[in-house]
Amino acid sequence: MVNSIFFKHGCTALLTGSTSGLLFWRLLAEQLVDCLNLIGQSMSSSIGWFCLACSSVIGWLSQQVPGSKMANLRSLKGLVGIVTGGASGLGRATVERLVRQGASAVIVDLPKSEGSSVAQSLGDKCAFAPTDVTSEADVKNALQLAQSKFGRVDILVNCAGIAVAFKTYNANKQLPHSLEDFHRVVNVNICGTFNAIRLAAGEMAKNEPNEDGHRGVIVNTASVAAFDGQVGQAAYSASKGGIVGMTLPIARDLAPIGIRVMTIAPGLFATPLLAGLPEKVRSFLAKQVPFPSRLGDPAEYAHLVQAIVENPLLNGEVIRLDGALRMMP
Ligand SMILES: NC(=O)c1ccc[n+]([C@@H]2O[C@H](COP(=O)([O-])OP(=O)(O)OC[C@H]3O[C@@H](n4cnc5c(N)ncnc54)[C@H](O)[C@@H]3O)[C@@H](O)[C@H]2O)c1
Repeated sequence: MVNSIFFKHGCTALLTGSTSGLLFWRLLAEQLVDCLNLIGQSMSSSIGWFCLACSSVIGWLSQQVPGSKMANLRSLKGLVGIVTGGASGLGRATVERLVRQGASAVIVDLPKSEGSSVAQSLGDKCAFAPTDVTSEADVKNALQLAQSKFGRVDILVNCAGIAVAFKTYNANKQLPHSLEDFHRVVNVNICGTFNAIRLAAGEMAKNEPNEDGHRGVIVNTASVAAFDGQVGQAAYSASKGGIVGMTLPIARDLAPIGIRVMTIAPGLFATPLLAGLPEKVRSFLAKQVPFPSRLGDPAEYAHLVQAIVENPLLNGEVIRLDGALRMMP
């Protein structure tokens, strides 16, 4: 049997096989829910309220489709996400996507960051927790805020990160890499990520599991530098390699409580991290990407986070998001 479904962006998916009937109705229902939500949100009249009510009922019914594992595909709607580094770049795009898709989000970022104004611009579904991810007390406070304001924690996205660029030994200056800088990068990128994971896992463990035993999802951010580190990237590559290395063991640790752990390894993205570079350097970097030959849009990172949250079979793996980029030495 072949079903043809028109998705909201205009593309058509052809579904074959025995589960396609159920999947067809579920996807159709999801498209209908999206349409009704759009109409409902754009009209303040009783027709708008009627559309929103219908969308809730159809959404609930579509979640009840039995017999197919695909019925466990989650939507972001109603979930609560914590995003470290959420005030800028990839983290900010993730927060914006979560809120736009009907989830709530807590921005976990340094007190000096733009977290407060970003949260304000996104309204009631977003809050800011001034946090240093390397501090146990700060991360506990951020989780507490998520619990008190939104009632639960379903998603943790780790985007907080820093970089330095120094050679291991600078022969011209006869200067070894600063040990303090190395410690600092490893501390924020690896220890900060692990600190957020271990504490957020405790909150997710409190969630009622769904029929698949699913309680939460963790998405970390490594870098292609974990695999093709360049000159001057010893500390940064070591820290990102650490995140890659801990993905599988943490996924195994948390599997019994139904928490998935994934890592995204981004290539080159147009975030404030790269915005400071001269235009010439930015376009040189963009040309290094085979296809599409441009810097990534943070929204593309956020889109992958959503796909990971929604697909229950993704676990314990690292996904490169880089347009086939392989960095030169
Ligand atoms: N932009 C890229 O091209 C790219 C490529 C590969 C990997 N990454 C990784 O993606 C992540 C996000 O990068 P970005 O480009 O969005 O950078 P960004 O500088 O725009 O955002 C990083 C955020 O982390 C926050 N942060 C730093 N230290 C923190 C700490 N101790 N506690 C809490 N928050 C802290 C910063 O305040 C900032 O808001 C980083 O881990 C980075 O290494 C970025």
